[in-house]
Amino acid sequence: MPLGLRLQGVVKRFGEVGAANHVDLEVPSGQLLALLGPSGCGKTTTLRLIAGFEHVDAGTIEIGGERVAGPGLHVPPEKRRVGMVFQEYAIFPHLNVLENIRFGLHRYPAEAREERVKTVLELVGLLGLEKRMPHELSGGQQQRVALARALAPEPAVILLDEPFSNLDAGLRVRVRAEVRAILKQANATAIFVTHDQEEALSLVDQVAVMLHGQVQQVASPQKLYRQPANRAVAEFVGDANFLEGVASGRQVECALGVLETQVAIHGPVDVLIRPENIELIPASAQTADARVRSQLFFGHDQLVTVQTNAGLLLDVRLGPAYHFAFGQPVKLRVVGPVMAYPRSPDRSD
Ligand SMILES: Nc1ncnc2c1ncn2[C@@H]1O[C@H](COP(=O)(O)OP(=O)(O)O)[C@@H](O)[C@H]1O
Ligand SMILES: [Mg+2]
Repeated sequence: MPLGLRLQGVVKRFGEVGAANHVDLEVPSGQLLALLGPSGCGKTTTLRLIAGFEHVDAGTIEIGGERVAGPGLHVPPEKRRVGMVFQEYAIFPHLNVLENIRFGLHRYPAEAREERVKTVLELVGLLGLEKRMPHELSGGQQQRVALARALAPEPAVILLDEPFSNLDAGLRVRVRAEVRAILKQANATAIFVTHDQEEALSLVDQVAVMLHGQVQQVASPQKLYRQPANRAVAEFVGDANFLEGVASGRQVECALGVLETQVAIHGPVDVLIRPENIELIPASAQTADARVRSQLFFGHDQLVTVQTNAGLLLDVRLGPAYHFAFGQPVKLRVVGPVMAYPRSPDRSD
C-alpha cells in the first residue's frame, strides 16, 4: 500500500525540551491514524512539523511520496499537500459556508472550483446551508465546514489537532463518528491528535502512542489494548494492575498463581492484568484471597478495589449486577492470558 505520510527519525528541540525525539511514523494512504498521548508529549509539535510550521532539527518527512523536510530541505507550508483542522475550528466568522470552503481552493483550477465546492458540501452533508454564516451553525456543523475546507483542495494528508475538544460530551460522540465517516468516504489519509484514549480507540485504524516525544507503539486499537508494547503504554491506555512475577516461557508465577502469558518471556517480570480480567468469587474468611475495599459504580460497569491477603491492592471491573459488601472475603480468578514485561529495576510498586 502506498504511503500517505512517512516520518523518519524526526527530531525537534525547543532549548532543553526535546518535543520530538526521533519520531518514526508511517501512515498508509487512506488510513486514519490517531496520535495519542498525554498533554505535552509532542503531538502538536509533530503535526506542526508535518505541516511545515516548524523546521526539523533532524530526520525526514515525506508527504504523498514527496520529501518535504530533511537535511537542507524545508518545503514551505503552502507548498505541502496538507489540510488542517484545529481545535478551535478556525473557520472565518465573516465568511459564509460557501466562501469558507472556497477559500481553500484559490490554487485549484478556476473552471473546476465550483464543482469541487459542491462535491465537498455534499460529502460533509451541508448542501443547502451554503449561505449560512458560522454563528448560524451548530458546533457539529461548524466542525464539518472546517473539515470541508481542509478536504477541498484534495490534500495528500489531513491533520486534525484535538478537533473535538470544544464540543460537549453528547455532541462529541456523534460528531466524531460523522468525521470518521466523511474521512473514510473521501478515502483521506489523516492523522488525528488526541489525549483521549476512548476517542482514539473507537475512531481509527491505527493508534500511535506518543510519550515524551517518542512514538512507543503503533498498532490497531485491539492490539494496542491487548498487547501494549511496554509498561508505560499499558499504564497510559486503559486501567492496569501490575504484579511482580517470574516468567518461564508462556507461564508466569505471581501472587495470583500461575498464569498463562500472551507471549513467551523469561525471568523477573511485571505482570499486567486488566481489571476486567479478574473475577471475584464470594468466599469464606478461611478460603479468601482478598477482601473488598471499595466500590465505584458507573452504571454500565463498576470498579471494585480488593486487597489481597498479602496487602496488594487490585482493581477489578465488573458488570452492574454484582454487589459486594465492604470487607467481603473473595477468591480471585484471572481470566485469559496476561502480558508480562521485563521487570523495571527502578520500580518498587
Ligand atoms: N514554540 C515552543 N517553544 C518552546 N517550547 C515549546 C514550543 N512548542 C512546544 N513546546 C514544548 O514542547 C513540548 C511538546 O509540546 P506540544 O507538542 O504542544 O505537546 P502536546 O500537543 O502533546 O500537548 C512541551 O514541553 C511544550 O512546552
Ligand atoms: Mg497539543
